[in-house]
Amino acid sequence: MTTAIQICDVWKRFIMRHNRSNALKMRFLGLFFERYRERREAFWALKGINLAIEEGEAVGLVGPNGSGKSTLLYLIARTLYPTRGEIIVRGRVAPMIQVGLGFNPELTGRENVYLSASLYGLTRRDIDEMFDDIVEFSELHEFIHAPVKNYSTGMNARLGFSVAVHLDPDILLLDEVLAVGDQQFQKKCVKRMMEFRRRGKTIVFVSHDPTAVRTLCDRACLLFQGDVIEVGNVDRVLEAYGTRIGVEAAPLR
Ligand SMILES: Nc1ncnc2c1ncn2[C@@H]1O[C@H](COP(=O)(O)OP(=O)(O)OP(=O)(O)O)[C@@H](O)[C@H]1O
Ligand SMILES: [Mg+2]
Repeated sequence: MTTAIQICDVWKRFIMRHNRSNALKMRFLGLFFERYRERREAFWALKGINLAIEEGEAVGLVGPNGSGKSTLLYLIARTLYPTRGEIIVRGRVAPMIQVGLGFNPELTGRENVYLSASLYGLTRRDIDEMFDDIVEFSELHEFIHAPVKNYSTGMNARLGFSVAVHLDPDILLLDEVLAVGDQQFQKKCVKRMMEFRRRGKTIVFVSHDPTAVRTLCDRACLLFQGDVIEVGNVDRVLEAYGTRIGVEAAPLR
């Protein structure tokens, strides 16, 4: 079995800035008074993560808000870099998070599709060929010509997901994609993800929905305060989430 994503002792530190202000008045006051001064505080969002994800595996990342799930996806996507440690990725990644959140709000959906796909390395002709399918899957219709800043959260996610799957990557990173789409779109996404799995692709799926994790994932990984608490069998991990962290996991089907 080949490892698609090898996460080796990964640490991520963020610098939190308090009292950050560009206002001249505040900066001036800061010269005299402590409480107006900018304070910087280091915060470790990930603390020594080790995880190997095999090719063709679908792994669910679960854990409470702020536990480091999205940060880990950003690191795998190389949108962020680890403060310490290393992540080895084998295969091409089309990160939903990068595409979805990376859309330029001033550009139209169409322009963003061309921009994202060309950053991924596709030629104009490749993109021309897949463009109609991308729009059709997203069901954005004429909104594809509107600026992304006018999209709802769900519309944004629809386009992000549609672009990501049409790029046909080896590794698909999905962050809460099902949480913002309506039920009909959720079904479509799940179907696409299943198809992806069948074709031997790798999926890392962040979700707060235990049922979705059970349906889609071969394994799960529980993060808590930047640490991996439990990894392995989905039911066992969800149970650990319920008992150790105090969140009621959905009843087993
Ligand atoms: N750019 C940043 N600067 C400072 N702190 C950050 C930054 N990004 C994330 N953090 C902090 O890192 C921690 C982990 O955040 P992350 O977004 O990875 O959590 P999460 O598990 O995805 O949570 P959620 O379930 O709410 O999406 C949080 O405490 C967050 O405040
Ligand atoms: Mg998150």
